Amino acid sequence: MGMNTFGGFGEYIRVPQEWIVKKPDNLSLSESMAFGTAGLTAGLCLRKLLLHGLKPDDGEVFVSGVTGGVGIISLMLFSKLGFDVTAITGKMDQEKLLKNLGAKTVLDRNDLDSDLISPLQKPIYAGGIDAVGGKILSNLICSTSQRAAIACCGMVGGLSLDTSIFPFILRGLSLFGIDSAESLLETKEEVWNNFATSWKLENIDENIKDISLNELPSEIDKILDGKQIGRVRIVYD
Ligand SMILES: NC(=O)c1ccc[n+]([C@@H]2O[C@H](COP(=O)([O-])OP(=O)(O)OC[C@H]3O[C@@H](n4cnc5c(N)ncnc54)[C@H](OP(=O)(O)O)[C@@H]3O)[C@@H](O)[C@H]2O)c1
Repeated sequence: MGMNTFGGFGEYIRVPQEWIVKKPDNLSLSESMAFGTAGLTAGLCLRKLLLHGLKPDDGEVFVSGVTGGVGIISLMLFSKLGFDVTAITGKMDQEKLLKNLGAKTVLDRNDLDSDLISPLQKPIYAGGIDAVGGKILSNLICSTSQRAAIACCGMVGGLSLDTSIFPFILRGLSLFGIDSAESLLETKEEVWNNFATSWKLENIDENIKDISLNELPSEIDKILDGKQIGRVRIVYD
């Protein structure tokens, strides 16, 4: 939970029936919390891109904010499905981890965090998942190849977009927005079922940090300092 509903860190929470999705049998409770809302959002982004027709053969894809919760699961999912992934991060010291999780290339986000040089730049990416918005997404929009698709869901890098109509009408770019909370229940169900079957991340538990409730404040401080890496799961005794 989160946003307008308290109880996200509670062991029990009471919610309206229409918010509930049945957990697939082939996914443990603990695995489902390794995904959490960030993982669901990554899955919804991926689903949108696959429905658009994006395939590994189309070329390189990117994930921005890649050491964050949405980013790290997006990287693992893309990699599981055979995509060549460029991981865009502010933490270049995590290059080894990102390559172990399947990144082909690791790019410093500072290289993209600047005003647009041109509304159309070298076409590199066939698609991508963006968790940061702002100047980084603005530059990525200009660096897409023909018929590319981007799914965006976050705004840690800024709320504004500086773009033009050119990538859309000269390269046929599609930009999809993802809202996990209000997605249709059947769409959420489809994504959770994928997590339990064809998108199953066998090694997800190895890449999650388990903590007790008491450790939560210091982990939140790490997020605010921009030092957190990947997903953190609260384990109750
Ligand atoms: N639309 C939805 O339904 C939905 C659902 C869940 C989350 N979200 C949003 O998606 C975003 C990511 O969520 P999350 O759970 O992955 O958050 P997170 O775990 O805090 O990760 C965010 C990542 O963004 C990067 N970052 C941090 N500060 C930045 C800055 N100033 N400029 C550019 N990049 C920066 C960092 O990765 P690097 O150091 O690797 O660059 C960081 O790990 C948030 O904005 C969140 O609110 C949206």
